[in-house]
Formats: sequence, C-alpha cells, structure tokens
Amino acid sequence: MTFEEAKTRHAEVADQVRRHDHSYYVLAQPTISDPDYDRMHRELVDIEKEFPQLQTADSPTQRVGGQPLSSFASVAHAMPMLSLDNTYSQEEVRDFVKRVEKLVPQESLSWTVEPKVDGVAVSLRYENGVLKTGATRGDGATGDDITANLKTIRSLPIRLEGNHPDILEVRGEVFMPHEGFVKMNEQRVAAGENTFVNPRNAAAGSLKQLDSKLVAKRPLDIVLYGVGVVEGDQWEPESQVSLLEGLKSFGFKTSERHWVCKGADDLVAAIDELDQVRHSLAYETDGAVIKLNNFGLREQIGYTSKAPRWAMAYKYAAEQAETKLHAISIQVGRTGALTPVAELEPVFVSGSTVSRATLHNEDEIRRKDVRVGDTVVIEKAGEIIPAVVRVLVEKRSGSEPEFVFPKSCPECQSKVAKATNKADSEGAVLRCLNPDCPAKVRGRLQHFCSRAAMDIEGGGEVLVRQVVERGLALNVAELYRLKVEEVASLERMAEKSAQNFVDGIQKSKGQDAWRVLFGLGIFHVGAGVAKALCRHFPNLDEIFSAGLQALTEVDEIGEIIAQSIVEWWDDSRNREVIERLRAAGVNFESSLHQSQSAGGVLQGKTVVLTGTLPSLTRAEASAKIEACGGKASGSVSKKTSYVLAGEEAGSKLEKARKLGVPVISEEEFLKLIGETD
Ligand code: IVH
Repeated sequence: MTFEEAKTRHAEVADQVRRHDHSYYVLAQPTISDPDYDRMHRELVDIEKEFPQLQTADSPTQRVGGQPLSSFASVAHAMPMLSLDNTYSQEEVRDFVKRVEKLVPQESLSWTVEPKVDGVAVSLRYENGVLKTGATRGDGATGDDITANLKTIRSLPIRLEGNHPDILEVRGEVFMPHEGFVKMNEQRVAAGENTFVNPRNAAAGSLKQLDSKLVAKRPLDIVLYGVGVVEGDQWEPESQVSLLEGLKSFGFKTSERHWVCKGADDLVAAIDELDQVRHSLAYETDGAVIKLNNFGLREQIGYTSKAPRWAMAYKYAAEQAETKLHAISIQVGRTGALTPVAELEPVFVSGSTVSRATLHNEDEIRRKDVRVGDTVVIEKAGEIIPAVVRVLVEKRSGSEPEFVFPKSCPECQSKVAKATNKADSEGAVLRCLNPDCPAKVRGRLQHFCSRAAMDIEGGGEVLVRQVVERGLALNVAELYRLKVEEVASLERMAEKSAQNFVDGIQKSKGQDAWRVLFGLGIFHVGAGVAKALCRHFPNLDEIFSAGLQALTEVDEIGEIIAQSIVEWWDDSRNREVIERLRAAGVNFESSLHQSQSAGGVLQGKTVVLTGTLPSLTRAEASAKIEACGGKASGSVSKKTSYVLAGEEAGSKLEKARKLGVPVISEEEFLKLIGETD
C-alpha cells in the first residue's frame, strides 16, 4: 500500500468507526457486530503501524489509553467553570423566578429544566473539530489536564460532526452508569480489590488515574449541557434549547430529557416530573438544573463571582431516616480486608428495611466520628447501598465511647496491617495478616464454589462456615475429599442436598482452567485476567512457571498482576494446594488456548480479507482466522501471509499480486485450516 492509499483507507475506516461509536454509544443503536467493529479497529492499528504519521490525535485508535503520566498538567479554562446556587425548597425556586423577572421586566421568560447529573464536571476544548484538551473543573479557573482519560469515553467524539464552530469549549458531566458501576464493583470484589462507595466516587476515582489504559476499562460515559468559549460564525445558539440541539448535531450525548417551562408553576411541575422519572436514567441525579432559556437575556442578568444569576439547582432530598446504631461489627473478607459495618435498629427507607450499613473503613468512621449508641442518619447512597450520613451529636448521652478500630483481627486475633492497594490509588484497607484466618479460609472456599468461578451448587455461606468450623476442608483442594456422610452430618443438611453438593464438587473437576485460576482467589486475578492468561498459556502449570517477565508479556497483564501471581506461587502452601488439586483430577488445561490455536496452522500469520466470500461472512472468516491463531488484517503489505479473496476483490488483490502475496479462495482457506479435505 502506498502512503496515499493508506491515508485514504485510514480516513475511510476511521470515519466508519466514528460513525459506529456514535450510533452505539450516543444513540444506543448498534449498527454492526462486535467482531466487525474489532476488525475495523484492528485495520486502523495495522495501517498506523505501517504508517505512523496516520496515528493522529483524533484517530479512533487513541481511545485505548496511552503511556501512564507521572502527574497531570494544569489547564487554565478560557472561561471560568462556575457553580450553581442550590436550594432544596420549591418556595426558593419561586423566589428565584420572581427575582429574575424583576431584572428583565418587559420580557416573558422561558426556562429549561434538566437533570442535575451527579458526576464529575469537565470541560473539553475542540479546535477545528478535533478534541485538543479535556480538563477537570479544579478551582473553576484551572483544572487538571485529563485528555487521555477522557478520550477513552466512547460516547465522547474525538472529532466533531456537522457544522461545528472553529473553537468550541463544551462542558458536561462524566458519570459511571448504574449498570457498569454494579458490575465493576462485583469484579473488584472477585479480584479482592476494594469497592467504590457510589457511582460518583467511581467516576471521580477513575478520572484521577494517571494510567489511561486503566481508565479505558472503566465504564464511563458523559453528557454535555453547556459551552464555554465558542469562536467562529458557524454556530450561534440563541437559547439553551438550540444549544442542546447543536451539541447533539456535533455528535455529543445530551441528557435524554429536558423540559421547557413558562413560569414558576410550570417549573415546579417539571421538577416533580423529573423526580418521578430520574431513577430510570442511566446516571445518578441529585437534582434539577433550572436555566433561563434565552442567551441574550442571560447576558443582561449576569453573574455573581461564583455562579450565574440566571440559573439555579434544585436538589432532591435523599430519602433519609434516623435510627440507633447498636454496634459496629467488623467483617473480614476473603482477602482479609476488615470492613466496619453499622448494626442498626431496623428502619424503613427508600422502599426497604435497613438493618446494616457499611462504614467503609477506619478513616470514614473517624471522619464522621461514629460511635456505638449514637443516633445516626442513614440514607441509601445513590439509592443503592445504605450508608451512615452523619451522627446526631445532640442526641448523645455523653457516655458513647469513641470507636477504637481493632488492632487485631476480630476472627483470629492475628495482627492487621494497612496495605496500600498498589494497582489503584483509591485507598488503604486494613487486612488480617494470618493466612489461616478462618474468615479468609471461608471466603476462599466460598469464592471457589461461586457461580462465577467453579460453579459448585450449595457452596454458600452457611454450608462453608460449618465445613470450615468442623475442619472438614481448610483449602479448596480438600473440598474434593469431602464425603457425603460428612456433609450430611452438618446442621440443617439433608442427605439429598449433601449428595448434590458432593456431586457438584466432583463435576467441577472438568471446568475450564480459567475458572480454577480465578477460583484460587489470587489478588488482582479476576475472571477477565484469568481468561487472558488462559488464552495465552495452554495450562496452569505454564502460567505458574512463566515468571514475571513472561507474564507481563501477556496483553492485559501488568506488573502488579504478574507480581501478585509470582508471590502467590512462591508460597509453598499454595503450591501444595495446586498439587492436591492435580491429584484430585481437577482439569488444568484451558480450552480458551486450544480454540485460539486449534491446529495452530495460522499461528503468527496475517490474513487479509477482500471481496465477498461465497459462504462465509467477513466476521465468520475473521473468527476462523483468529481461532487458528492467525490475525485478520485489512491492509496488504509485504508481511501479509495470505489474501483471502472473494468476488469483486479490488485493489487489495492487485496489491497482493504485485507483492507476491499468495491469494487464496474460500475453498482453499477452509482446506488450509482443516475444515474440508
Ligand atoms: S450547568 C454555570 N447543567 O452541577 C454553571 N450543571 O452544582 C453551569 N451539573 O458545576 C452548570 N448537571 O458540574 C449544569 N444539566 C446540568 C448539570 C450541571 C450537573 C453540575 C455541574 C455544576 C454543578 C453545580
């Protein structure tokens, strides 16, 4: 491919990827299959490898994250990022409307009401339609340059569509959708990492990461609702409504609902309506933002030093309840993490009865000065997890002692220590240092049996606790020695369910190696990491003997994960567990690896697809190439191993002939990979 050809092709594919990103992430209307999308993405990467000049800042390949930074640079906002005056009272909304009406008495005013997205405010600067910088709000005048992190958000255009202005600063809110938040926390629990308190913290914590590759894995999203500097005569919105329309036409995601209102009654009705529907939105909302629609009038009304006089935030009161805190218990997790939990007098809030609430960690208890015997206010943080909001100090009798966090593990009285979680800079947790702590042993067995790991039915909390207390199994390998009579002798255990449990254990021997690996509960080895390792290595033995260097060569495996695996294997007791699992007949081989290199005939080979094949779709052909260890690429070069050509194959075929690359038909391809004789 000549540079000119590559440039044209790159522009074409980049444009397609951009359009698909927009359809999928902004409009939520997928237009192509995942493999097709991946193939286009790979084609861009391949072209850019050959012609690095094409790897421009606005290429879709720039979304996966780059080199980690040592710190964020500062960005001065061309126009300050202001905040909003807040109120919780509808009366104050009416007063606000009256105040504004007085300032522009001749006018009949129109207002908008938008959801107040509870995320992280950011400002993005586009020059000639290309995203140049993205920054946090900071102190309003200067923020952190988090461009690389923001680029990983797929719904955020890196290049604008439509008739956009020369210079455009847009403002909006980065958030983590509920669904992604719940899933991510589940994965973090499974990988032994600490969880985020709520979606807002998760979004903020993610954007603070210096390694944008990590951010690329976080399910972040963004909605835009305002502008800063706008230059160029292409676009001069006159109102909030036309601003939102314009932003949409440039490819931005805006909130799915907004209301246009005429006066205070209308506004109050819209605020109430938003309160009804806001829980069905993808993001957390903590209020409604009221804005004067007309921009000309906004200028007349002006600003205070902190906030516009023409806008206001109405905050919904989170449903709260008052209750008594009877005790603070400390839960010890599988990784030994000590989590304080408030044991409460049961109280009804936001649709359910709450009797326990997390206190997160020692710092949180100290910050809120929570004491046993206190009357506390609780609410469902983000309406999901109950949390203690504050203590009603005035209700103290004076005899409530300050809470002293235990210096030893409440389960086994061993030493505890604060180990910083190096993979993420999101906090320190106290952990029990005893590897045989019964809480850890139970947690490990339970995790091994869980559906996401070995999927052994019945291995829940109640059963596992008894198994451990009776000393029937103290590590995952010992599960395989359990006898039906032993299990049946446990409390509340019928013969039938004991039989089912033992059968389930025996059946699990055939599970794929990635489930075994994940089930071992190695720090930082979640299901995704376990799968990546099993795709790369054929079996567990090769993974454990690989060593630091070889482990980090696997895609997705960084030094921290590799280190964690090596450390785990260095412990002779863990090696013994592995030997016992092997002796029990547990499968150590992964089919993920086999499927990738079945026959391995295309190992290390690159195949370019062109034209229409007689029976296979492009996605099917790509999948077959990959299943045989090969790489499907979109551009022909000297390094191409085969060009798989169908009907109407164009320039790629010519190019292949010129370069002497073998051209094969679908039939020959299927023969090559052993699917026909
Ligand atoms: S407009 C001049 N619209 O709320 C200030 N802000 O409490 C312009 N926010 O700093 C802000 N959703 O981070 C606006 N639809 C929305 C919003 C919104 C959330 C945030 C924003 C702002 C904060 C003020």
